[in-house]
Amino acid sequence: MSFDVGAEAYAAFMGRYSEPLADALLAVVRPAEGQRALDVGCGPGVVTSRLVHRLGAESVVAVDPSESFVRATRERCPGVDVRLGLAEALPWPDDTVDLAVAQLVVAFMKDPVVGLREMRRVTRPGGSVAASMWDLAGERAPLSPLWRAVRSLWPGARDESMLPGARDGDLARLMAAAGLTGVTSSELTVSVGYQTFGEWWTPYTFGVGPAGDFVASLSDGDRNALAERCHELLPTAPFTVDATAFVVLAHP
Ligand SMILES: C[S@@+](CC[C@H](N)C(=O)[O-])C[C@H]1O[C@@H](n2cnc3c(N)ncnc32)[C@H](O)[C@@H]1O
Repeated sequence: MSFDVGAEAYAAFMGRYSEPLADALLAVVRPAEGQRALDVGCGPGVVTSRLVHRLGAESVVAVDPSESFVRATRERCPGVDVRLGLAEALPWPDDTVDLAVAQLVVAFMKDPVVGLREMRRVTRPGGSVAASMWDLAGERAPLSPLWRAVRSLWPGARDESMLPGARDGDLARLMAAAGLTGVTSSELTVSVGYQTFGEWWTPYTFGVGPAGDFVASLSDGDRNALAERCHELLPTAPFTVDATAFVVLAHP
């Protein structure tokens, strides 16, 4: 799936949700002055930039497998040690940070238990590991209106509801399987407003993530049919999309 896209494409597509979600997530996780933190699957630096604001660039490290996102995070967060890499093989020694965060990433890990186990390994005893993921299975994700329209046109189409962590209880189960303890779960909801249908639809044509890949794979005719069905199913503009994420906090 494609996260090799520019920071602007991501910002218009998922960044509109992940920026406010990051504020809400850090209010739960509460990084404290003097701590060191890791942002796993940092994308273009949405959580990283907030960690820098609280802890200082020298106390924050970040990693992502997308070269364009690594470049974007380095630009957005000068002084942060941003590495190209995978959660499943974190390029830091044991006990490097007090806090490891993966916002909207677990679903995309090749092996989520290994990735979370790595987050546990680099977090010192007494520290925290946090992860969040949209409720795709419960149809409360930013992408839910799109996938609803897809299923109504092509009932067999594969949506994102089966991705790891994207259903109630799954993130907590994965955390426990990775050996993390004291797992607590909550939910966070963000709202994003759109003035026109086009403002909502256009970012789906930028090829970001599984939904962007799906839209890009369609013929022009099918893409137009999908846009029309989305238009029918969404409220008349201006409208607001509410999105709810599961948030899980645990300890090594
Ligand atoms: C939906 S984006 C979330 C980005 C950012 N955390 C945010 O909240 O905006 C998912 C991110 O996970 C990254 N990713 C995909 N597979 C990964 C893996 N195995 N390990 C770490 N990150 C991964 C992608 O490159 C992408 O940046």
